[in-house]
Amino acid sequence: MILLDGKQYSKKLKEALKIKATQLIETNKVTPGLAIVLVGNNPASQIYVRNKIKDAAFCNIYAELFLEDENISQEKLVKLVQKLNKDDRFHGIIVQLPLPKGLDEQAIIDTIDEAKDVDGFGTINKGKLFCGMKAMESATPKGIIKLLDEYKINLTGMNACVVGRSNIVGKPMALMLLNKNATVTICHSKTKDLGTITKRADLLIVAVGKDRFIKADMVKEGAVVVDVGTNRIDGKLYGDVDFAEVAPKTSYITPVPGGVGPLTICTLLENTLIAYENILKTKKGE
Ligand code: GUN
Repeated sequence: MILLDGKQYSKKLKEALKIKATQLIETNKVTPGLAIVLVGNNPASQIYVRNKIKDAAFCNIYAELFLEDENISQEKLVKLVQKLNKDDRFHGIIVQLPLPKGLDEQAIIDTIDEAKDVDGFGTINKGKLFCGMKAMESATPKGIIKLLDEYKINLTGMNACVVGRSNIVGKPMALMLLNKNATVTICHSKTKDLGTITKRADLLIVAVGKDRFIKADMVKEGAVVVDVGTNRIDGKLYGDVDFAEVAPKTSYITPVPGGVGPLTICTLLENTLIAYENILKTKKGE
């Protein structure tokens, strides 16, 4: 069994992003900028956002936090995003999810200019991904594809099973695997005989948010297992996969923590540099 070491790989990626950002700043005399909108005081979101700002600073990307009250109205939040769309300091905009109840998440995300949608959560970017077109790809599934690539795991023809169908991870993950020529099955909470299906998978990707949900008898001998879960139990972090019993059966597996988590910020920052280059090219009329 080989560990898919996202922590190590993310260090390498961050160093590369820092070099790239420094070169872009030198060439264009413009600093790449990321606007982060955080509404309310969800503790998990606060940690994610803090880490995004810290890693952006490391990579020479300017990140600014727009912290809004949890009672903000839909109109006011839409206006803020519209203002950020016009603000040339920012090449990427993200609205940290989940938003407090009562706010229409998709409507707010769809207010983000397609070119600045570095989370790739907007309907246009999702549609482009669906059509196999060049799109801004969501950070978590993009990070997973990069990690598998780093370990030279060839996805062509692989029997891949994605457990979870969220708009943030499961669905875009399945599409990206399909675009990489894997044969993809999507499972979810209503799937019958889940274990029979997951046991057929050469590549099993789990994003359900259920502590140690996938057990050894649900996994094929020699499978590649990617665990997107981050379940905090009594202050300790566990994945959606029961690592202790599953890992010995696998060829490759991501640990939690230190697997998928550290990569998602890297891919977000990478997307910010992609958006920066696209926006600058459009401005120059190239
Ligand atoms: N909430 C959980 N993951 C994410 C993410 O990747 N981006 C945003 N904006 N919110 C999230």
